Amino acid sequence: MPILSALSITAAALAAAPMAAPDTLEQRIAACLSCHSVKERSDAYFPRIAGKPAGYLYNQLRNFQNGHRHYPMMTYMVGHLPDAYLREIADYFAAQHPPYPPAVAGSGANASAAQLARGEALVRQGDAGKKIPACVACHGTALTGVEPSIPGLLGLPSDYINAQFGNWKSKTRRAAAPDCMGEIAARLSEADVAALSAWLSKQTPDTAARPAASIPQPLPLACGSFPASPAAAQGGAQ
Ligand code: HEC
Ligand code: HEC
Repeated sequence: MPILSALSITAAALAAAPMAAPDTLEQRIAACLSCHSVKERSDAYFPRIAGKPAGYLYNQLRNFQNGHRHYPMMTYMVGHLPDAYLREIADYFAAQHPPYPPAVAGSGANASAAQLARGEALVRQGDAGKKIPACVACHGTALTGVEPSIPGLLGLPSDYINAQFGNWKSKTRRAAAPDCMGEIAARLSEADVAALSAWLSKQTPDTAARPAASIPQPLPLACGSFPASPAAAQGGAQ
């Protein structure tokens, strides 16, 4: 029966198709996990992306695409992915909550008690004299970040945090204007950055913690990448 055999050939081709498709979400994510896996924290530099708000992750993928963040391997990984794919990847990682591996020694490992005290004070109270707002005012009192686009700050290696402040200072990392982190970085000395990255990297993150649903407004500075603030629009740095 010609019709039936034609149908069965089509069915076989359909069944084989998913195996042959080169471009599935699972394949993209497998490539990401070689660096952003559960073990990531022992690599001293790779940031944890699991559990960060989807809007934040999406904005960063866009930032690597459009040159507002620079890291050749990341630009290569996401450079040609269509926008819908970036959103899918961001949603996927935002929903993952693997346990945190034990902290490893980074540059913050040998911080003195005085440095750690300075770091904690900056995170919790800021420094009014230097116009540095408390980090908790935007990242949340538990530092778990805020939906949809402010990241949590725990579980990041101190070397990664130091590098990001260096990037904001040199404007090789930018977010949608007004770029609040760029302004804050400009007001922080290198000693202050080392103190706060050491303190942050020594805190034990809670795997059950989730980004806060909201945060009291107004924020101490406007952030273009956080939609509740004036003139803000989610959708990446412009
Ligand atoms: C070769 C290692 C490597 C691979 C593979 C890789 N990344 Fe990255 N990724 C990094 C590094 C290193 C950074 C930090 C770069 C920097 O200094 O800004 C980063 C940063 C990020 C960030 C920003 C994190 C943050 O907290 O701001 C996101 C999101 C991200 N990667 C997603 C992905 C996705 C999705 C893939 C797969 C498509 C991927 N990465 C593949 C190494 C990698
Ligand atoms: C006015 C609000 C605000 C304050 C205050 C603030 N942040 Fe942020 N922070 C943000 C926003 C918004 C982002 C996301 C920026 C982006 O999309 O690139 C961010 C991103 C970050 C990141 C990037 C995390 C990653 O995974 O790459 C770090 C690190 C960070 N902030 C540290 C701090 C520290 C430390 C302080 C206190 C000195 C602080 N922030 C104070 C709003 C704030």
